Order: sequence, then C-alpha cells, then structure tokens
Amino acid sequence: MFASLVLLLSCLLVAVNANPDSKTVLILGGGVAGIIAAKTLHEAGIDDFIIIEAQDELGGRMKSHHFGGKTVELGANWIHGAEPVSGPVNPIYTLAKKHEVKIQYNDFYGSMSTFDLNGTTDFVDICRKAFEDHVKLTIAGGERLSRSLVDLSARTGYALLGSKPQSHHEQAAEYFHFDMEYAQSPEQSSWIAQAMNANFTYDFSRKRPSKDTLLSIDERGFKTVVQAEAVEFLEPSQVMFNSTVTDISYSNSGVSVTLHGGRVIHGAYALCTFSLGVLQHDDVRFHPKLPAYKQEAIQSMVMATYTKIFFKFVRKFWFDTEMGLYADPERGRYSAWQSLDHPNFFPGSGIIFVTVTGIFAERVESLSDSQVREEAFGVLQQMFPDIDVPQPLDMFFYRWHSDPLYRGSYSNWPPAFFLSHYYNLRANVGRLYFAGEATSLKYVGFLHGAYDEGMNIAREIIKCIREDECAPMKRVPDITNGDEKSYGHFNVQYSLY
Ligand SMILES: Cc1cc2nc3c(=O)[nH]c(=O)nc-3n(C[C@H](O)[C@H](O)[C@H](O)COP(=O)(O)OP(=O)(O)OC[C@H]3O[C@@H](n4cnc5c(N)ncnc54)[C@H](O)[C@@H]3O)c2cc1C
Ligand SMILES: *[C@@H]1O[C@H](CO)[C@@H](O)[C@H](O)[C@H]1NC(C)=O
Ligand SMILES: *[C@@H]1O[C@H](CO)[C@@H](O)[C@H](O)[C@H]1NC(C)=O
Ligand SMILES: *[C@@H]1O[C@H](CO)[C@@H](O)[C@H](O)[C@H]1NC(C)=O
Repeated sequence: MFASLVLLLSCLLVAVNANPDSKTVLILGGGVAGIIAAKTLHEAGIDDFIIIEAQDELGGRMKSHHFGGKTVELGANWIHGAEPVSGPVNPIYTLAKKHEVKIQYNDFYGSMSTFDLNGTTDFVDICRKAFEDHVKLTIAGGERLSRSLVDLSARTGYALLGSKPQSHHEQAAEYFHFDMEYAQSPEQSSWIAQAMNANFTYDFSRKRPSKDTLLSIDERGFKTVVQAEAVEFLEPSQVMFNSTVTDISYSNSGVSVTLHGGRVIHGAYALCTFSLGVLQHDDVRFHPKLPAYKQEAIQSMVMATYTKIFFKFVRKFWFDTEMGLYADPERGRYSAWQSLDHPNFFPGSGIIFVTVTGIFAERVESLSDSQVREEAFGVLQQMFPDIDVPQPLDMFFYRWHSDPLYRGSYSNWPPAFFLSHYYNLRANVGRLYFAGEATSLKYVGFLHGAYDEGMNIAREIIKCIREDECAPMKRVPDITNGDEKSYGHFNVQYSLY
C-alpha cells in the first residue's frame, strides 16, 4: 500500500516535470516584441519557453496581404530612421539586410504633388514650411525636456513657435507632417514625447529630409524580417498558434494563462506583449485585477489608429510623384495618397493607397466598404477634375481599431501622460512582465521600439531566473501634483539596442 502510494507520487512528479503545460517563461504574443524576447532568452541559454499566439503566423502588426497581384502591407511598412548619423542602426534595418528583404527608399516629403477641391494646385512651398515647423517643434520640445519644463500639447508648441495653420493648404501640410507620424492631431499629442520620438528615430540635426525612410516591397511580406529570423532559433514546439489568451493569473511565484477553450498553461514567468489597445479593452482578464496605478497608466496612454486604404485601378491615371497631398476643407479627410504604381515600387500595378488617421480613421472603420469606396472615389474626382476617373477594380483596408487582437494601430503619448505613468505602464506585476512598442520610451509606436523592449524586458526576466539581480521594475504607486511631472528626471541616453 505504502509502496504503491510512493510509486503513484513519483509518477505524478514525473508527470509534472514533463508537463507540456508548464514552462519557465510564457511569451504572450508573437509580434516583434515576442519574437525578439524569445531570441534574447534563447541566446541566454533559456529555451524552456513558449510563444502563445492567437493568429496562425508570427509577426503581429506586420501583416501583409495579396492585393491586385502584389503584396501590400496592411500594418507596418517602413523602416524609419534606418541609419541615423548619431545613434545606433535601426535593428529592423539590420534584419532586413540579413534576410534580404526588398526595401526601397521612399521620398515621403520630397516627391510630392499637391491638390485641393479645384484639382492640381501647387502648395509644395507650404509643405516645405510644415516640414521645417515640425523640425522646430522637435528641437524646442527637446529644450523643454532638458530644462525640466512641464509638458504641453504639440498644438501649444506649434502656436508658441508661430505656426498657426489657417488655410486648407496649411492644415493639410501640417497633417501630413504630424498626424501621418503620430496618428493623432497636435492637440492630442504630447510635445515632449513627440520631440523625443522624432529625435531618436530621425536625424533632425540636418534640418532637411534624409534618406532614411525605407519602404518594404518584398513579395514575401515585410514580416519576413522577423519570420525568417525566428526560423533560425525557434523550434516548432516553442510556438502555439491559434491560441487566444482569455485570462492571466499572476502572483509573486508564477503566472497561469487560460486559453479560449479552457486549457491552462503555467509559467514561472510570463511576458505579455499584447497591444496597449488589447489591455485597454479588457479583451484579456487579469487575476487579481491589475493594480490601480497600472490601470491608470494603461488607460492614460492612447492607442491611435492609422488605416491604409488600397485601390486597384485598370491603369494609373494619377500623379507621377511618390506622394500626393489633397487639401480637403475637413482636416485629414482622405488627404495622404501614395502611389505604388511608380518606377521605384510596383510599376504597372495600378495600385494607389490613401491613409487616414485618428478619429477619422475610426469613423472610416465604422462605415461599410462601399461607403468608403464612394467617399474616396469622390475625392479622386476632385483631385482630377479633367479626367474621367475609372471605378476601382478592387479596394481593401484592415480594421485595426475593431480587431480584438489590436484595438488600434500604435501608441501615441497624450499631453497628460507623465513619466511616472510611463514607468507604471512598463512595470511588472509579480512575475508578469510587459513589453511592446507601447513600453518604449524612445521609440514608442515603432517596430524598433517593439524590438528594443522585447530585448530589454527579456533581460529583466533573465536576471530573475538567474537570481542575480531580481528587483521589481520601477513604479510610482501614487502620481501626485509636483511629482515627476516633467520628463526631465529621465536621463535619456542613446543606445539601448
Ligand atoms: C497600420 C500600421 C502601420 C504601421 N506602420 C509602421 C511603420 O511603417 N514602421 C514602424 O516602425 N512601425 C509601424 N507600425 C507599428 C508597428 O507595427 C508596431 O510598433 C509593432 O509591430 C508592434 O509589435 P509588438 O510586438 O509590440 O505588438 P504586436 O505586433 O501587436 O504583437 C502582439 C501579438 O499578440 C497577439 N495577441 C493579441 N491578443 C492576444 C490574445 N488575447 N491571445 C493571444 N495572442 C494575442 C497578436 O496577434 C500579436 O501577434 C504600424 C502599425 C500599424 C497597425
Ligand atoms: C490555425 O487555424 C487555421 C484556420 O482555422 C488553420 O488553417 C491552421 O492550420 C491552424 N494552424 C495551426 C498551427 O494550428
Ligand atoms: C477653387 O476655384 C474657385 C474659382 O476659381 C475659387 O473661388 C476657390 O477659392 C478655389 N478653391 C480653393 C480651395 O482653392
Ligand atoms: C536629440 O538628439 C541629440 C543627439 O543627436 C541630443 O543631443 C539631444 O539632446 C536630443 N534631444 C532630445 C529631445 O532628446
């Protein structure tokens, strides 16, 4: 009797040890942050991890789509700031070169045709001024940061610098330089965070556009940069696809994750890389509820929406430049057009897309495809009054804001988000850690921000696993007036990669 009990117990112990549902680290989400976290663990000799991903492939917001005979990018498409004059090379650029992903310089600000209600109208000079105003905003925001002055909105910053767009042309030009970057308006954006974001990714010292905006035109999809990288170190058994997390239970001793369908997986540690939008919308439930300071931080950052609407026409009838800017009386209404039927991209493809952002993008998502097609078609008719604009053969856009796996496109810092909020957004709770573009101070929103944080937070976890220096990450339980309200306390340095 006793012997059989011992036998039973030891069988149970063996079963626990070999339990496929128990790992050292659970990586929740297989986007850039999750993949780079896995790579960082692997390089540290820790392979007892699993990536849990709702979709059936890796890449997350790097999402490609076959459209009109080509591969177009519904999500991330550009490598921004590939090789800054000072500062590190963008790691996404390094991966693109390594995996021979086809990228092409996109003259976003220099190759531009301009339009308004009356068709072609030259306001390229106004665009150039808007570019310079954005540079001034960045430099002045950096000065505020270095003097520890309180944050303000980018709108206030523009106004203080004398940039006060009035005409439709001026508003469209500002929209193109600001909203097309942050996916929200200057009113909705932090001046200092904007300055840091622009400063660390682009080279503003040159005060003119530099050739560091690269567009992926690879037929395998831009996602190849991370998918091909993952193949090099991941075993198939280290990824669970089609597995949606519904609940996360965390404590100081471990994390349990429940999947849709009820399966439970345990980790000594877990890294949640779900988007800020997913955290904001309660698509995943936390047990216990996340602490108040964490919830305040999550709800204070903004998940902005950036939507590209693709059209396929029988032939190209539009401008020969790479970009076309249309000034509508309503700021941001189908303003930013980009031609893919261009010698540098997909010549002869008949493909053009228009990008919408912020509240207008959320509005577009709520319309039917045919309503959006009609509205955009109307804009093309205004832009080309002398042409009998043909009906598009096809149209496609992805609804990022309504997708429960994203709930938006990328994060943008509002003026009321303080440095302490940033720490709280990034801080671990027990053995549950957080990483993604939203937790990057210097590269928020970008692919390279997700890369950087996947690596940084994996290193925090590694320190704990090795028990050398496992301390809770910085947090500020009560953010009070007069507390760290400015960003000046943060000694922002180059080189995190
Ligand atoms: C339209 C658009 C354009 C962009 N353009 C650019 C650009 O040109 N350049 C640039 O640098 N950046 C761009 N970005 C931003 C860039 O795509 C992101 O910063 C980056 O991909 C974020 O990576 P991540 O790992 O932090 O998050 P994600 O890619 O969101 O990864 C999280 C993963 O978690 C999964 N997931 C979510 N919920 C669950 C759940 N409940 N259970 C299981 N899995 C779940 C998701 O499927 C996803 O794979 C763009 C984004 C969008 C949407
Ligand atoms: C995931 O689901 C899709 C669609 O239901 C299916 O085609 C695919 O084979 C699944 N992949 C895995 C790895 O289970
Ligand atoms: C369009 O042209 C009309 C008539 O020439 C002019 O009155 C109007 O101001 C123009 N509109 C714009 C937006 O330039
Ligand atoms: C911008 O970058 C430069 C280095 O090129 C640095 O000296 C400056 O302090 C930075 N400004 C901000 C706002 O971080």
